[in-house]
Amino acid sequence: MKRRVFSGIQPSDVIHIGNYIGAVRRWVELQENPEKDNIFCIVDLHALTVPQDPLVLRDRTLELMALFLAVGLDPMKSTLFVQSHVTVHAEGAWLLNCITPIGWLNKMTQFKDKSIKQETILTGLLDYPVLMAADILFYDTHEVPVGEDQKQHVELARNIAERFNYHYGETFIVPEPMIGSYGARIMGLDDPTSKMSKSSSHIKGHAIRLLDDPKDIERAIMRSKTDSGSMTDHAPEIRFSKDIEKAGVNNLLTIYQVLTSKSQEAVEQDFANARGYGDLKKAVAEVVISVTEPIRARHSEIISDRAELERLMKLGAEKARAISEPRLRDVKHKMGLSL
Ligand code: TYM
Repeated sequence: MKRRVFSGIQPSDVIHIGNYIGAVRRWVELQENPEKDNIFCIVDLHALTVPQDPLVLRDRTLELMALFLAVGLDPMKSTLFVQSHVTVHAEGAWLLNCITPIGWLNKMTQFKDKSIKQETILTGLLDYPVLMAADILFYDTHEVPVGEDQKQHVELARNIAERFNYHYGETFIVPEPMIGSYGARIMGLDDPTSKMSKSSSHIKGHAIRLLDDPKDIERAIMRSKTDSGSMTDHAPEIRFSKDIEKAGVNNLLTIYQVLTSKSQEAVEQDFANARGYGDLKKAVAEVVISVTEPIRARHSEIISDRAELERLMKLGAEKARAISEPRLRDVKHKMGLSL
């Protein structure tokens, strides 16, 4: 039996190199693994938990579908679909709401972080992890490949699955979060002590977006924050380090490591004779551009065929419904709803 993999990404902004390294790039690898049955979802209902411009959101959803294809996700090998096209997610979230203690949601660190930034905190923002649990659980998912920031949400989905199974009998598979050993938390280039995030990607120099112009990518990396070592007369040591002072260098080395698929030792060897951080930044910019340029070129071709993208979204939604609707019926029946 193949192991079911489910993951998702919000269409709230063009995806950045953190999303790519922490999640999407790993999805492309999983797709080639014959032991996995992969489902990747554009979670537009999650995007609504903070204010969105409707026209922009719709465009971004289509743009993200094109980006899925441009990075190498293949609708013939994986199920690719838009969350709101399959009503199981919203309906399933309601059912799970009715067994989830509110105290579990109040503890979510992402809710605390995001709500500080909002003038009005919407109910959907608090409920966001229950919708995410519905995404995962109604597909009988075994593995959830995500970046570090989503680990707590996957753990909540596990707790919800266990609670349901306890009250209504063995129903949901209890899913495992799959966090990469490297690159699960790419930091902002402007501030390497905080995570690179879509909500800050409008800030100049914070993120590298997959569709950015090579000149902008180079500029952002060349200006990225390292440490005061760059001011000394001696060439600074360029090594992986957990030292907070070296977080910027560590972040650049991590991006370089993941994108070149080299070991830490081989990466440090590449920079053993570097004259300074400028050499490191130049090398990172080159590697990032060599990865993003072909994606950008493919994306601009794919996005021009809107009808084909819409056809693929419909196809994906049909496949997704065929998997999740039987589980929804089962859960409704167990909870006492008349079918
Ligand atoms: P989202 O859209 O914020 O991010 C998509 C994926 O990118 C990872 N990620 C990062 N990885 C490394 N470094 C970073 N700086 C970084 N920033 C983001 C995220 O961990 C994520 O894997 N709630 C989810 C989407 C979701 C989902 C799901 C995921 C909805 N339903 C079901 C898995 C399963 C989110 O907002 O991801």
